[in-house]
Amino acid sequence: MRRFKSTITFLLVARLLWATEFQPVFAEKGMVVSEDPLATAVGLQVLKNGGNAIDAAVAVGFALAVTYPTAGNIGGGGFMVIRLADGKVYTLDYRETAPAAAHKDVYLDDEGNVVKDASLLGYKAAGTPGTVAGLEAAFKRFGTKPWKELLDPAIRYAEKGYPLSRHKTASINSRLEYFNLFPSSKKIFTRNGEPFEPFDVLVQKDLAATLKRIAGHGAADFYRGETARLIVRDMERNRGMITLADLKGYKVKWREPVHFTYRDFDIFSMPLPASGGIVMAEIFNTLEPFDLGAFNVNSSDLIHMWVESERQAYADRAVFMGDVDFVQVPVKKLISKKYAEYIRSQIDFFHARSSDDVAANEAWMKESFETTHFSIVDQWGNAVSNTYTLNSGYGAKAVVEGAGFLLNNEMDDFSIKPGVPNQYGLIGSFANQIDPRKRMLSSMTPTIVTHNDSLFMVVGAPGGSRIITAVAQTISNVIDHGYNIRTAIESPRFHHQWKPDVVFLERPGFTDDTIIELQGKGHKVRYVKSLASVQGILIKKGLIQGWSDPRRDGKAMGF
Ligand code: DON
Repeated sequence: MRRFKSTITFLLVARLLWATEFQPVFAEKGMVVSEDPLATAVGLQVLKNGGNAIDAAVAVGFALAVTYPTAGNIGGGGFMVIRLADGKVYTLDYRETAPAAAHKDVYLDDEGNVVKDASLLGYKAAGTPGTVAGLEAAFKRFGTKPWKELLDPAIRYAEKGYPLSRHKTASINSRLEYFNLFPSSKKIFTRNGEPFEPFDVLVQKDLAATLKRIAGHGAADFYRGETARLIVRDMERNRGMITLADLKGYKVKWREPVHFTYRDFDIFSMPLPASGGIVMAEIFNTLEPFDLGAFNVNSSDLIHMWVESERQAYADRAVFMGDVDFVQVPVKKLISKKYAEYIRSQIDFFHARSSDDVAANEAWMKESFETTHFSIVDQWGNAVSNTYTLNSGYGAKAVVEGAGFLLNNEMDDFSIKPGVPNQYGLIGSFANQIDPRKRMLSSMTPTIVTHNDSLFMVVGAPGGSRIITAVAQTISNVIDHGYNIRTAIESPRFHHQWKPDVVFLERPGFTDDTIIELQGKGHKVRYVKSLASVQGILIKKGLIQGWSDPRRDGKAMGF
């Protein structure tokens, strides 16, 4: 918190004093941006050794599972957007699925009330993981380096260990009471039940063994082999739902990207069950006719227009969106420019609407979650935008005994009861109710932007429901306000998600005038320390710019 505040205050003061723009990392050939410096260095080395962006993504994905345990994972799932140098775009869905034993009332007690923490903590909160299948599928289709070589750095860091930065120490220690609930987690993520000291070395021997098996036998080990056996054994001992049949039945999906235009840029993002692409399309389509560049980026008028667009897009998310393999979603209509015309006709430019008038329901918002994103560009111009997660920080907090990795608590992303908000305050409907083998709705928004058919931006973020607006604002900061990638990422953010009916504002970041004007228009504001953590790449005038959001501890490196 202190670090964040002082960073932002410093940036604001510096900008006022010197009216300067801070510089991102520049590179000519390739760039890796991730939330962890060790994993970024792993990816960069792969690129320097002649690997392509997909090779680097696989190596970074496995490395983060070791060096960034709060969100990096093999026990979770995610989404990857790939654009090859020839201009073709592919999207890979490796989201977790509900185990076959799950059903719409699985987290409710006999009276129909939500059982506290049941979808968040422990084995029953876990969906069938997709990460290992996802990384292997990307590799098999586009990878060029030996699979084993890409897992080597992760295995090394798991086996030999690495020193915990202050940030990681604080992050792990903040979940001490949860890790102590599970002997398998206590063994790894505590010092005999006590907190770590900064620079203690975190060794993960069981995880190293699991990664070695995956290096040797591929995803087959995870879904049918020894690792599968360890998962199922632990599920049976701890009343989890995942069975061997669930693991064997898990399949990744290659999907058509959500594609829309914003001004003369093409934006390619993830389709359902990730809602990010559609929600962002609605927001950008609504804003497109306005000359956003003419407004100060932090002005109340600009924020008001964004918020009113976001209000509608998130209401649509809650009502319509879910796994398209199970429910019909009017995607074409939602992302059409015609629908945006209708949305605009409902907006009052001087007053905030009430979310109850846009649709009904009430919600609340809780903090503290983790996902992670990385963006990669290689020397040939191939690009990967990948977001994956365990959902909450350290997922379900339960490590699979003997296998050394944390399980996700992604089941909480389903609408576990109509009208009851999840940990991000999001409400869902029938479209996102739990069904066996269904994928839970996500806010993840890995995105690639092109301009005149050339790669322009690779961007994405963790941050739960706030991911979508953070990615959209970063893209707009570049396109509409001409910022470099660093300034675009560092600028203060705001967020509205229909319910709860408040504008979340990063503090510090906005002037008193802006806040008073927003309130004058009828907006309720709520201050938060940070909204998401964008990892971005921008290609401009032949140079690659990269930047990792200072709201967290990542790093951009290029060559
Ligand atoms: O898929 C989703 O929308 C959530 N499970 C993402 C979680 C997340 O971003 C946590 N981040 N900080």
